[in-house]
Amino acid sequence: MIYADGSVFLLQGKNYSYAMRVTKTGFLQQLHYGGKITKDDIAYLATIGDTMAPREDDINMDCALDGMMSEYGFYARGDFRDPTAIFARRDGAVMTRLRYKSYRVTTGTPGLKGLPHVRKADKTLCVTLKDDFSDIEVELMYSVSDDSDVLVRGAVIKNVGKTAIEIKKAFSFRIDLPNGEYSMMRLGGTWGRERCPEVAPISHGITRIQSLRGASSHQTNPFAAIMRKDCTEECGECYGVQLMYSGSFAITAEWAQNSPLTIQGGINDVDFSWKLGAGETFTTPQTLLTYSDCGLGGMSRSISRFILDSVVDPKYAYADRPIVINNWEATYFDFDNDKLFAIIDTAARLGIDTFVLDDGWFGKRNNDFAGLGDWTVNADKLKGGLDAVIDRCKKNGLKFGLWFEPEMVNEDSELYRTHPDYAIEKVGVTPVRARQQLVLDFTRKDVVDHIYHAVSKILKAHDISYVKWDMNRNITECFSDKLPAERHGEFMHRYILGVYDLAERLTKEFPNVFFEGCAGGGGRFDAGALYYFPQIWTSDVTDGYERTKIQWGTSMCYPLSAMSCHVSVCPNHQTRRTTPLVTRGIVASLGAYGYELDLSKLTEEEKETVKELTATYKKIRRIISEGDMYRILDPYTRDYFCEMVVSRDKSEAYVAGERVLCIPCDYNRYVHLRGLDENKTYRVEELDITASGAALMKAGLLLPKIPDFHAWTWHLKECDNK
Ligand code: DGJ
Repeated sequence: MIYADGSVFLLQGKNYSYAMRVTKTGFLQQLHYGGKITKDDIAYLATIGDTMAPREDDINMDCALDGMMSEYGFYARGDFRDPTAIFARRDGAVMTRLRYKSYRVTTGTPGLKGLPHVRKADKTLCVTLKDDFSDIEVELMYSVSDDSDVLVRGAVIKNVGKTAIEIKKAFSFRIDLPNGEYSMMRLGGTWGRERCPEVAPISHGITRIQSLRGASSHQTNPFAAIMRKDCTEECGECYGVQLMYSGSFAITAEWAQNSPLTIQGGINDVDFSWKLGAGETFTTPQTLLTYSDCGLGGMSRSISRFILDSVVDPKYAYADRPIVINNWEATYFDFDNDKLFAIIDTAARLGIDTFVLDDGWFGKRNNDFAGLGDWTVNADKLKGGLDAVIDRCKKNGLKFGLWFEPEMVNEDSELYRTHPDYAIEKVGVTPVRARQQLVLDFTRKDVVDHIYHAVSKILKAHDISYVKWDMNRNITECFSDKLPAERHGEFMHRYILGVYDLAERLTKEFPNVFFEGCAGGGGRFDAGALYYFPQIWTSDVTDGYERTKIQWGTSMCYPLSAMSCHVSVCPNHQTRRTTPLVTRGIVASLGAYGYELDLSKLTEEEKETVKELTATYKKIRRIISEGDMYRILDPYTRDYFCEMVVSRDKSEAYVAGERVLCIPCDYNRYVHLRGLDENKTYRVEELDITASGAALMKAGLLLPKIPDFHAWTWHLKECDNK
């Protein structure tokens, strides 16, 4: 619901309200973001707002705006907090003062051209602010839906003048939360340890999370939860802040003197600039803001539901995801028809439905020194080409998927030999070579066009139902010969716009191909990527224990079905740890399921286990994609890991857990289930127990006493309580 009359604005979602007003001096002041209030409360909030808003006679005071809760911060006019945007005019002057000009309310949500965006919302409020000293206007966008706790923010910067300006910073949003005292959870990490949740109090000054890698990154996800002091997993208030952006980003929290806590973020402003010609507009990426008064768990459930309902392609959002066998860890580059056929033939007997041929099928790609950029089949390696493999899949009733790394090139490739200028390099500067490869200059349309034609040629020529889109290095030497010097600050953003352009064209042209995102594991796992890729390879680490931590952290702000999770071989290739096959299967079942090993080399007993695990997953995959997830036991801090998913009508639940390390004197311990209906009676299949939802949540179930790294599941089904 949106109420707007030009002086006050009230946005209402399922459990939150967001209130703003125009002060007497024309500033757009934020009044409230939190639990639900009504329009009648705004008069009262305005009296508090009056104490913070500048009066007419001190509007030119040097610090009049410093403590005001405002909607978009500007620079060099008395608000000394980090600005939300900075604009420079032709003479270099940067002072800006944005004041209210007009508003409009539209039905639905604006579809942003060239950027991933929310696909649906009930209504959008657009408020235009105008700079007092230049011809710059900023339109702030707020999209709301009655049945969601996600508020979508974004901004459009307009040059309504006659000369070009330079945008030096253009964050997407700003919110101010009163009283300063909050903690921030960020999802930090590195390759193989992506999205570890870390909580720390926000102290005075600026807390900043960011990526400068040209990708959202393994190291810092474009997400933060701002938590009140008493916020826990299931109780208390918090705000999710999540960028729909896959490039270099920043999210900051600033607690300045006694002012509110200012949260803002968007495209990273380090080395960013954008020349905005007369009459042109610049659209920032969207941000998903989520309010929860049911702790982090409530926040995660609201975000997951929203991402599935409004971000992921509706064709795939709730559809059964393919159960994949991928050959990467089975063969790496060393494969031929026979090796692949053995895997395919075995997969078919074990209930798997899609074979994905990973890296190494094209060009002279026998190791990672050559071939990237040459998207034609390596017929020396694959006798009969791709069709031989596809035919084998078809004979076995399997679908076929193929790996690409569209953004990359090896110097040892036909593409580089023909078009060395396609690579991101600065002549005279030795390039940084990560994994022996260079990044293609996706700021150039001709480069994107070339790759588009190469990939689409393969997709048109063969029966391919699945594409894994990988990206294995970050950007250095961010320079393009084709950009004029004054536009070099646009490079990183233009790069990701090129990636989005390719993804948009390919997914539109091949709507029946399921595209999975990947970036050397989970290096580009973000809400922007999910607009094009319904699921993303979560991490290259598939170890039966490490994965519990990665998936736990990822579940903070992404749906389970967005996480591509595979069972791999032991000892694990990354950690050398050995965990039971069943444990690896159970952990992977909390996501989009698959395998990544040489099935043909398993013992008969192991094959039987794979068959059973696959069959069990088929029974629960509906609940995994549609249900609500509850995090129960945190593997970072506990000696057990446990998560559960409850169907929307609460008639069914799936609990999956793992004993991490056994401890001595481990007497009977209970785990309290969550999310069930207190008044329903459930049968726990594996334990042959019947109990009420109330008993299962308030008294709990005994934790199984099982050895280190062993796992268990409980399937709960509502039953007649008579
Ligand atoms: C990194 C991915 O995360 C792996 O799954 C695999 O596809 C390799 N790249 C192939 O080079």
